[in-house]
Amino acid sequence: MAILAAQRLNKRYGDNLVLDNVAFEVEEGEFVTLVGPSGCGKSTFLKLLLGIESISGGTLKLDGRSIPNEPGPDRGIVFQKYSVFSHLTVLGNVMFHGDLAASKLLGKAFGKRRRALREAATAALEEVGLGAALNKYPHELSGGMQQRLAIAQALIAKPRILLLDEPFGALDPGIRKDMHALITRLWQEAGVTIFMVTHDLQEAFDLGTRLWVFDKKRHDPQAPDAYGATITYDIALDKTGDGEHLRRTREALNSSMSGGRFA
Ligand SMILES: Nc1ncnc2c1ncn2[C@@H]1O[C@H](COP(=O)(O)OP(=O)(O)OP(=O)(O)O)[C@@H](O)[C@H]1O
Ligand SMILES: [Mg+2]
Repeated sequence: MAILAAQRLNKRYGDNLVLDNVAFEVEEGEFVTLVGPSGCGKSTFLKLLLGIESISGGTLKLDGRSIPNEPGPDRGIVFQKYSVFSHLTVLGNVMFHGDLAASKLLGKAFGKRRRALREAATAALEEVGLGAALNKYPHELSGGMQQRLAIAQALIAKPRILLLDEPFGALDPGIRKDMHALITRLWQEAGVTIFMVTHDLQEAFDLGTRLWVFDKKRHDPQAPDAYGATITYDIALDKTGDGEHLRRTREALNSSMSGGRFA
């Protein structure tokens, strides 16, 4: 069964129809990259998956059941700029997230559970290469290190679905490459299902197993809010072969979506 599936999904804010008639099925372990013009609803879509926004119509199902209207430990998110607590250390930030993930059932962690949490947080930080920075404070970290901290925060709850909203947009190209390697390794090792929004088409092609282009099928200049965006292209990124087919697809997409309409 698909881990996530939608039919005739739509989302509106008042008169603004943001997403319209979205349908898909995603299997566990897929790495879906999302691109589309600024304001077309990509972040909104991730918020629906996370459960911090609710759908206005249609269906959105996780494991065949309507997605809960609240975040759960099965879904983690990394934003472009992550909110870390400046008064907590790197380790403290990740432990705090672990606390939150567990607290619904068990309350704040003490004693044995706290030691287990500390070990899990340390392991998550070592995985993302921050093992030597456990006691640093966020302002002492570079941009790339802060994003790695954000990823460790999302990983501590061992989510089945990882949502990444332009996570590397603010990073230098060299550091982005390191982050690509990191996220690919985590994806392969953890078998997690990933949805990643990016404005970088090359990044979308390189990292994903499947690319979605979100866009409006109809535009009315008189009523810009009247039509919502949907998945206009759903492209399997089959990496076997010489890559020529994918290169051509990318170029075709790039030219059809240039002119500043790409986010
Ligand atoms: N909480 C909200 N209340 C009302 N309107 C909202 C809210 N959040 C988003 N919107 C509207 O929904 C539309 C889609 O916004 P969203 O942030 O999802 O776009 P996006 O594709 O992520 O854009 P970008 O690439 O610039 O990040 C916009 O018109 C925005 O104004
Ligand atoms: Mg966005």
